[in-house]
Amino acid sequence: MLKNDLLLKALRQEPVERPPVWMMRQAGRYLPDYIKLRNQYDFFTRVQTPELATAITLQPVDQVGVDAAILFSDILVIPQAMGVEVLMEEGKGPSLPKVIRTKKDIDALFTDHAKERLDYVMKALQLTKKELDGSVPLIGFAGAPWTIFCYMVEGKGSKTWSQAKSFAYNQPELTHSLLSKITDITIDYLIAQAGSGADVLQVFDSWAGALSPADFQLFAFPYLERIATAVAPHAPVILFPKGSWYAIEDLCRTAASGIGIDWCISPKDARKKAGVKTLQGNFDPAKLLAPIPMIREEVKKMIDGFGKQSYIANLGHGITPDVPVDHAKAFVEAVKEYRS
Ligand code: CP3
Repeated sequence: MLKNDLLLKALRQEPVERPPVWMMRQAGRYLPDYIKLRNQYDFFTRVQTPELATAITLQPVDQVGVDAAILFSDILVIPQAMGVEVLMEEGKGPSLPKVIRTKKDIDALFTDHAKERLDYVMKALQLTKKELDGSVPLIGFAGAPWTIFCYMVEGKGSKTWSQAKSFAYNQPELTHSLLSKITDITIDYLIAQAGSGADVLQVFDSWAGALSPADFQLFAFPYLERIATAVAPHAPVILFPKGSWYAIEDLCRTAASGIGIDWCISPKDARKKAGVKTLQGNFDPAKLLAPIPMIREEVKKMIDGFGKQSYIANLGHGITPDVPVDHAKAFVEAVKEYRS
């Protein structure tokens, strides 16, 4: 039994006194205690050592007061489990030296034994669950197939994703076969996370917004839908295709319990499109750099717009490293103090 189950209640559309609040990318980056660990251990050591991943996961729960923990890990553990090398350079972001170009490259990828290949994630979830001792729910996650495809084809982050998109437009069959393989292993991985203690599972489609609405329907939506259908019987799913608010109605018809949105749509318009479906978002992370009284005011306006039921207060994308901790706390406290 959880002492604070506001997040689960919101996902079940049950009445709540106030909305639950957590922040995407809350584990790490802006927290001084995280930076200490970052200076001691390299990125994938932090991810692959359950004791370190657990310690980082608990930091924002203890220090910022969020209503949920999200496991410290990364979406790029899936390409690694498929047999692709991923490097993380501090301050520079990820790079994948051997990009996918041919059918042979795709045929060589593993899609089996997700649970065993990512055993360190399962161990970190189990340990975190134990340490949380029922205080707040634990969120597990994975990257969406389109976003993982972007990294596997482009080999690094990009503003335009022109190589990934060029591959998709020139080789649609290979694209679908790669997206399908990523989907298969991601489904097994998310189900295994639910079996290891994750109470909620979020799918990050960070680069969905690089696609036009028609291409989103082609390369992103069907795979998100497949994941939601397969995983929902095991734990509530939140789909977060950043930049694809135009597809809210379609996303609401999937088996997902919640839909994440960024700040490019107003809370009122999103609520109109979603009806009673649970929405999550959508505070501009850069607005956490505004003066604290403005943050508090804007939080109130945001919740007024969404309505406090069937709603999870969050940012519209990850928190950035330059956010002062007291501004992050002000965001969380403003949600906790909300009364309508
Ligand atoms: O939400 C959380 O706090 C849990 C941990 C988490 C990380 N990455 C840790 C991390 C989560 C949920 C992710 C997901 C992730 N990783 C996404 C999807 C979410 C999003 O923001 O769009 C993406 C696109 C990645 C890939 C990735 N990992 C990039 C582009 C980078 C470098 C740039 C950056 O975001 O800082 C990473 C590294 C990374 N993953 C860091 C953290 C805390 C920063 C590196 C460090 O501080 O050592």
